Amino acid sequence: MRTIGDLEVSPLGLGCMGMSWLYTPSGRDDQASIKVIDRAIDLGITLFDTADVYGPFTNEELLGKAIRRRRDEVVISSKCGAIEVEPGTVIRNGRPEYIKQACNAALSRLGVEVIDIYQLHRLDPDVPLLETWGAFAELQSEGKVKAIGLSEVSLDQLQACNEQHHVDVVQSELSLWTRDHLDTVLAWGGENDVAFMAYSPLGRGFLTGAYKQATFEAGDFRASNPRFTEEAAAHNQAIVDSVTSIADWLECTPGQVALAWVLATGPHVVAIPGTRAMNHLIENVGALSVNLSATDMSALNNLPAPMGARY
Ligand SMILES: NC(=O)c1ccc[n+]([C@@H]2O[C@H](COP(=O)([O-])OP(=O)(O)OC[C@H]3O[C@@H](n4cnc5c(N)ncnc54)[C@H](OP(=O)(O)O)[C@@H]3O)[C@@H](O)[C@H]2O)c1
Repeated sequence: MRTIGDLEVSPLGLGCMGMSWLYTPSGRDDQASIKVIDRAIDLGITLFDTADVYGPFTNEELLGKAIRRRRDEVVISSKCGAIEVEPGTVIRNGRPEYIKQACNAALSRLGVEVIDIYQLHRLDPDVPLLETWGAFAELQSEGKVKAIGLSEVSLDQLQACNEQHHVDVVQSELSLWTRDHLDTVLAWGGENDVAFMAYSPLGRGFLTGAYKQATFEAGDFRASNPRFTEEAAAHNQAIVDSVTSIADWLECTPGQVALAWVLATGPHVVAIPGTRAMNHLIENVGALSVNLSATDMSALNNLPAPMGARY
């Protein structure tokens, strides 16, 4: 188990975004997703990540419904501050009064009395960050949320917030092909009791090797993502090939190696891979049994850089 604030969580969580948003343009299957969430709890996963913008709104409702009878077994992580005004257009709102209102709405959608981990999804350039962060601190002292955090912040921004009020967790992208925060936010967090929640730890699926020939339907976020263009995907396949050869040696899958690497970056790091598929969930949980040697880590730390910006 690992720690976020005063909460104990499983090292691997479950990211619920793709069950309702970005990867589901042709429709959701909430019944199947509820079964995946329920099975994840059976398998020992206690951390479930969502946000109000996922859907929008329907992902929090889905998670709330899925955990209703098992509330005591799970830690709910949610986020606010990003608003989808029309499909594909997301704006930001960090005004304190908005954050308070968003939290009340999230509590009601999730059907819970307290949100275990509440994070600012994106910084609003029009609102001083410390004003936004003050609202999170107030929500915490009011008992509406337990741990509080930030997503996609720089080290300077993290330090400034932490000086005003302790930051329990930073949720940012971390995977074998996205290492931007490794030597900054993640390293500093390890020394200052700030957990790191690694999102898209499977490189939005690419690092599992499943997308070698993939084309994504219109509306899937990856259809227009720079790392998934035909040229970039062909270039980035070299990363997956190297990960696959390590996985073959360890008799596991490339996705499991990708997750084990994320968890090996620090004892304060948790990973929240997303899946809608039961077999993928079971495979991903298997990453907890993968032990990477110093030689494996060295090879994984020296993979080629990816082609294409991450957004
Ligand atoms: N804070 C932020 O700004 C932010 C941004 C993005 C994501 N997140 C959070 O992080 C979570 C995870 O990120 P993510 O979903 O973007 O990316 P990810 O976990 O790296 O990858 C998810 C994709 O990989 C596929 N996949 C998962 N396991 C697989 C397996 N074993 N074999 C083959 N394919 C597999 C999934 O498809 P299937 O459904 O078919 O398995 C899905 O399309 C999200 O759910 C969300 O909670 C946060």
